[in-house]
Amino acid sequence: MKNPLLIGPISHVLTLDKLLSKGALKDEQLEIIPNAGILIEGEKILQVGPWEKLKKDFPEAELFIFEGEYVALPGMVDCHTHICFGGSRAKDFAMRNAGKTYLEIAESGGGIWDTVTQTRKLSLDELAEITNKNANRHLSEGVTTIEVKSGYGLSVEQELKMLRAIQLANQTSKADLIPTCLAAHMKPRDFSGSNSEYLELIVAELFPILRKENLTNRIDAFVEKSAFSPEEIRPYFQKAKEMGFKLTAHADQFTTGGSAVAVKFGAVSADHLEASGEKEIELLAQYNTIAVALPGASIGLGCAFTPARKILNKGGALAIASDWNPGSAPMGDLLVQASILATFEKLSTAEVFAGITFRAAAALGLNDRGKLASGQLADFILFPTSDYREILYQQGKLKPEMVWKRGKLSDVG
Ligand code: NIG
Ligand code: FE
Repeated sequence: MKNPLLIGPISHVLTLDKLLSKGALKDEQLEIIPNAGILIEGEKILQVGPWEKLKKDFPEAELFIFEGEYVALPGMVDCHTHICFGGSRAKDFAMRNAGKTYLEIAESGGGIWDTVTQTRKLSLDELAEITNKNANRHLSEGVTTIEVKSGYGLSVEQELKMLRAIQLANQTSKADLIPTCLAAHMKPRDFSGSNSEYLELIVAELFPILRKENLTNRIDAFVEKSAFSPEEIRPYFQKAKEMGFKLTAHADQFTTGGSAVAVKFGAVSADHLEASGEKEIELLAQYNTIAVALPGASIGLGCAFTPARKILNKGGALAIASDWNPGSAPMGDLLVQASILATFEKLSTAEVFAGITFRAAAALGLNDRGKLASGQLADFILFPTSDYREILYQQGKLKPEMVWKRGKLSDVG
């Protein structure tokens, strides 16, 4: 057995340990260990504590020493992305900013269907390569776990291609990719039946293969007027649940209805929620479904932000994700977006850090990451500063200088 590795000294380690999984948080609640070390063995953290004490208690440990001021945080978790896609929607974006409506954009060949057409043209290997490249960019910026959705295939065969590409990219990227099936993104234009018939086809023909090939254990659906109604999604979620899948939903983005379905079916998360009102916020707070804010989509579309402050004040669990996708959220910078959400929604640093670490991990059903504590994965990032508040103050422009993933230092350069 190799000796453990002691990494440090680190000016301040923010463990994010011992914080509640739901509700508002104050910065005074943050556990901050000054002049600290992180002791790891293989992929896991053995102990986090004062540098000198760890050195004394573990004389056999190998040392990884550096100079300078650093703040350590758990590696970020992005619990909602669509980074597996072909083509670009720069034309949509320009048209939208020039005042064109959703319908005008769709009629000129834009929207989700445009990305479906571009994605279908690519081979599995080409798609895996794009996903790998996007994942590595995220990793270099400190995102060590990335959820990735399908949803630009929209046929049994094309959704399988996407999920196999995500599986392949997971083998090549050092980041952990968590796949999700979003075959219920919209009814494909080349499907002649009804919305419900399309969903029935997915249940009957795609779900069993997802299980057999172990391609994902997560099913997502876009519950929205332009996609699928709550009534159409209920039987879909019911079948998915019976087959043992975990559920998540694109909910309340423009109109409400999705969050109630998500909560009722015990979904792990309800994402978007820009249109959620008092009733929806109250409901989310009562259940364990995690509310995921996607500020990247609000910024990309010029729409209101998710009512994050109200969700937290009511006692809900709030995670923050990038929604990185070619249409509504092309930026793909989680820290920038979370910082901006914080200023508009008046979120404490503790609430933002929780939302992009352990609360986001919980939205993926993962409890082995998102905190710096013994037994957790050795996923952590080091920012070149001595004051943790600089991270949001610089609005995401201060990037981590070191990214450790499963106990290995990544090359972030
Ligand atoms: O999360 N809301 C639906 N789906 C994506 C957008 C996908 C796209 O425009 O390509 C979202 O914002
Ligand atoms: Fe999305």
